[in-house]
Amino acid sequence: MPLVRKNAAIQEPEGKLGVLLVGLGAVSTTFIAGVEAIKKGRAEPIGSLTQMGTIRLGKRTEHRSPRLKDFLPFTELKDLVFGAWDIFPDNAYQAAAKAGVLEPALLEEVREPLERITPWKAAFDQFYVKRLSGPHVKTGKTKWSLAKEIMHDITAFKGEHGLKRCVMIWCGSTEIFLQEKPVHKALASFERGLKENDIDISPSQIYAYAALSLGIPFANGAPNLTVDIGALQELARKKRVPIAGKDFKTGQTLMKTIVAPGLKARVLGLSGWFSTNILGNRDGEVLDDPESFKTKEESKLSVLEYILQPGIYPTLYGRFTHKVDIHYYPPRGDNKEGWDNIDIFGWLGYPMQIKINFLCRDSILAAPIVLDLVLFLDLAQRAGMRGVQEWLSFYFKSPMTAPNLYPEHDLFIQLTKLKNTLRYLRGEDLITHLGVEYYD
Ligand SMILES: NC(=O)c1ccc[n+]([C@@H]2O[C@H](COP(=O)([O-])OP(=O)(O)OC[C@H]3O[C@@H](n4cnc5c(N)ncnc54)[C@H](O)[C@@H]3O)[C@@H](O)[C@H]2O)c1
Repeated sequence: MPLVRKNAAIQEPEGKLGVLLVGLGAVSTTFIAGVEAIKKGRAEPIGSLTQMGTIRLGKRTEHRSPRLKDFLPFTELKDLVFGAWDIFPDNAYQAAAKAGVLEPALLEEVREPLERITPWKAAFDQFYVKRLSGPHVKTGKTKWSLAKEIMHDITAFKGEHGLKRCVMIWCGSTEIFLQEKPVHKALASFERGLKENDIDISPSQIYAYAALSLGIPFANGAPNLTVDIGALQELARKKRVPIAGKDFKTGQTLMKTIVAPGLKARVLGLSGWFSTNILGNRDGEVLDDPESFKTKEESKLSVLEYILQPGIYPTLYGRFTHKVDIHYYPPRGDNKEGWDNIDIFGWLGYPMQIKINFLCRDSILAAPIVLDLVLFLDLAQRAGMRGVQEWLSFYFKSPMTAPNLYPEHDLFIQLTKLKNTLRYLRGEDLITHLGVEYYD
């Protein structure tokens, strides 16, 4: 790829953009309510790079640092239209009230647009999320017919709102741990599997198949296998659709990808990292099931290995112990508390400890990620990008990459990669931070 993209045309965002959310729970409703509150001037879009971030262009002496939203043709918040599926029939206002993330007074102010969002029936099977059951579920006999029903929901939604473009984000519960099987390898075998109700095809994969078949970009906010399979990546390339995943990087893993690169930068050693947290929302309840937790654990554990590269630094990182667990503790609701005990060692091997106690709010951290992914995926599609969008790794605990490539987990490298991709899309010089020219 040349360092500067020539003829860098990005189609303008014409008309409205449909935001299709699978799951209308804590994250989705906090996202939608937030967008409505921001539109009313009631709050600021804090945590959203597309809304508040800037990008340096050219040399430092040029003093060019526009806001991302002035540099790129994003869809405006006023042009977002929301649709969702859930296994509960509650509208977005009721679901937000039950999730209990936002204060009643704020919810009251955005009640009207939220009440208008009533979910479609879900493609759901309790086999894949053991701790969940609900009445608002599609009854299609095969996974193939469920995919068709989802496509029908989308087509009707597009017709109703006169939409040309949509983006789908999986904000549904974490499914049980699945691995790529022969049925997942190629599109033809996957489509056969849908018709034959293959047990290895999960509901999240049915939604993703429906979206990609209709040319709709897809991002996976949970640690599910979903689009990490040959068949759906083949479909994304064939239909020229961008995809991204997986598992929103919010609380404890966000901290890990901020702190670990710093320790490594100063070549300080690590002998152990113990992470535990308590969480009381429905996500916490689902993750209380060992099969769903296994999916989450895999996603959370991989981070340190990739950042610290024990193969290259055996003395510093060759033997560290890494433990992660989550406890479902209802009194905390969505307000998670995480504890990290980090055992490090320095000069001459002398041990030290770092303690992090993060009292975070899960959905408050996740909502701006959903917004950015919607806007970036739509932009990517208008810029002609397709398949896995590694530059969006910044937002994920387990970033997707090309086969045989290890994922980049360091938050600061991820941010550089994201911003350089945006410069590239706009035909601007990439920034290497070399800077020798200032001293010539
Ligand atoms: N909040 C965070 O910080 C964070 C971070 C990383 C990942 N996640 C993931 O994001 C997802 C959403 O989190 P949340 O806190 O909103 O959870 P939640 O339990 O409040 O909401 C999930 C919703 O998805 C619905 N659902 C489940 N399966 C479905 C299906 N097949 N079709 C339609 N709807 C379905 C559930 O009924 C529920 O309403 C979870 O998988 C969670 O692990 C969240």
